[in-house]
Amino acid sequence: NNRITTATIREKKSKGEVITMLTAYDAAFARLLDDAGVDMLLVGDSVGNVMLGYDSTLPVTMEEMLHHARAVCRGASHCLVVADMPFMSYQVSVEEALRNAGRFLKETGAQAVKLEGGKEVTPAVKAMTSAGIPVVGHLGLTPQSVHQLGGFKVQGKDVAAAQRLLEDARMIEAAGAFALVLECVPAQLASKVSQALSIPTIGIGAGNGCDGQVLVTHDLLGLLPGFKPKFVKAYRTLHTEVSAAVREYIEEVRTRQYPAPEHSLNMADDVLEKLY
Ligand code: KIV
Ligand code: NA
Repeated sequence: NNRITTATIREKKSKGEVITMLTAYDAAFARLLDDAGVDMLLVGDSVGNVMLGYDSTLPVTMEEMLHHARAVCRGASHCLVVADMPFMSYQVSVEEALRNAGRFLKETGAQAVKLEGGKEVTPAVKAMTSAGIPVVGHLGLTPQSVHQLGGFKVQGKDVAAAQRLLEDARMIEAAGAFALVLECVPAQLASKVSQALSIPTIGIGAGNGCDGQVLVTHDLLGLLPGFKPKFVKAYRTLHTEVSAAVREYIEEVRTRQYPAPEHSLNMADDVLEKLY
């Protein structure tokens, strides 16, 4: 079995091969994305927005993440699966962070966890990596801190903020993370961080200088109508396809065009004749 490991991901950076990552929340999509050849799947806490109807990632629980991570792991056989640590599952204490991170590896089959933040989460990152749990960091726009950040906006725009982000990135690497997500930071800063680190950076809204890219699968497919951030490229507009297919179904059922004879199951005439 040639399963992608954290070592494969690190090697890609040294070979100059770009790393691809997408989100997945269920087994069906995980299988499709895995078969298409993506390197990493992220069971993102964006499951809260994308699948569960919350308006942020804050309400997402450990139990919800474990449930979705288990499904994704059943569908993925080649790529590396990373599970997001949900809000408040790693902030209270290092002990609690370690116990929760361990649950993903023990109970779901995920090969790594991801958590948001810089210097303040380095003790948790160290504890996890010391315990054999691979960690992906996440800096820049960290959606679990939306209320602290005062909204969803580009991070690291001025000298002080950019310098802090660069230092946080170095500390996350030193703490033992094997990769780092950079979300919504200026392309120039993301390039500088990528050059400064030996671990790969995975960008989302962070330009083309990162060592890899990640997108929310539903955004890439155009499955969700409505707001689309600037950094998203919708490779298809599947929400219109879904809507058209469902309208056709409704129409055909109402007009008795569906199910047609070829969709029906039959019994022998002599059996039918014996019924009274
Ligand atoms: O939850 C998520 O989907 C993420 C990615 C956007 C990096 O954290
Ligand atoms: Na996330």
